[in-house]
Amino acid sequence: MPQLAALAADPSPLTGQVSAGDTIFTVRALLPSDAGPLTSFLANLSATSRRYWHGETDAADESARLIEAIGRYDKLRLVAHRPEHPNELDGLIDLSFSLPDGYEITRFAAHGVALDPERTVRFGPCVSDAWQGRGLAAALLPPAWSAARLLSRDCVVLYGGVDPANHRARRFYARHGFTEVGRDDGVVDMMRYLPVTSPT
Ligand SMILES: CC(C)(COP(=O)(O)OP(=O)(O)OC[C@H]1O[C@@H](n2cnc3c(N)ncnc32)[C@H](O)[C@@H]1OP(=O)(O)O)[C@@H](O)C(=O)NCCC(=O)NCCS
Repeated sequence: MPQLAALAADPSPLTGQVSAGDTIFTVRALLPSDAGPLTSFLANLSATSRRYWHGETDAADESARLIEAIGRYDKLRLVAHRPEHPNELDGLIDLSFSLPDGYEITRFAAHGVALDPERTVRFGPCVSDAWQGRGLAAALLPPAWSAARLLSRDCVVLYGGVDPANHRARRFYARHGFTEVGRDDGVVDMMRYLPVTSPT
C-alpha cells in the first residue's frame, strides 16, 4: 500500500507521547532498527500473553518477519517505550489495512455484518506483562486511532478476534467502545466505529 510505504519512509506523523499513570511513553512506528528490542519483547512475554497474541512462534523469527514487513504489505505496527529506554519495548499494536477472504470479512459476514474494506482496520494490541493492568493499553488507543484515521479508516475490528477465555482483553475492549458481534472458529469478534472528531 503506497500510504504505508510513505509512512515507512517518513514515520514522523506516527510519533508522539502518551502517559499511563505517571509514566511517559514514546509511541512511534516499528523501525528496522527495532529487531533486537522486538525479539526481547516477544521472548519476554508470558506464555499466556503469547497464546493470546501472535501465538507460539520463535521470537527471533517473528521479529525478523515483522521487521521485513515494514512498509511492504498491509501492516502498520506501533510500539511504545519509555523515552529513556528506546531499546526496551513495552507495548506493540498491530494494525492491518486489508481484509483477506476467509478471515475477518468472512466471519463478520456470517455474523450479518458487511465490513467495508475501504473503512475497516484490523487491530491487535499487546502490552508487556510488566505493564499490563497499568493503563498503557488504554493510553495507546488514541495514537492507534490517529493512525487508522491517517489511512481514512473509521471501523475497527479485532485482528483474529479475541479468545473467549481472554477475559481481561474482552473487558478492555468493552470498556473502550467495542461491541461483540458474534463468535466463530473459537473466537469472539468485536468491533467499534471511531467518532468523527474525538480521538478516543
Ligand atoms: C489485553 C491487554 C492489551 C490490555 O492491556 P492493559 O494494559 O492490561 O490494559 P489497561 O491497563 O488499560 O487496563 C487493564 C486494567 O488495568 C486497570 N488499571 C490500573 N491502572 C490503570 C490506569 N492508570 N489507567 C487505566 N486502567 C488502569 C484497569 O482498571 C483494568 O482493570 P481490569 O483488567 O480489572 O478491568 C493486555 O492485557 C495484553 O497485552 N494482554 C496480552 C495480549 C493480549 O491478550 N492481547 C489481546 C489479543 S485479542
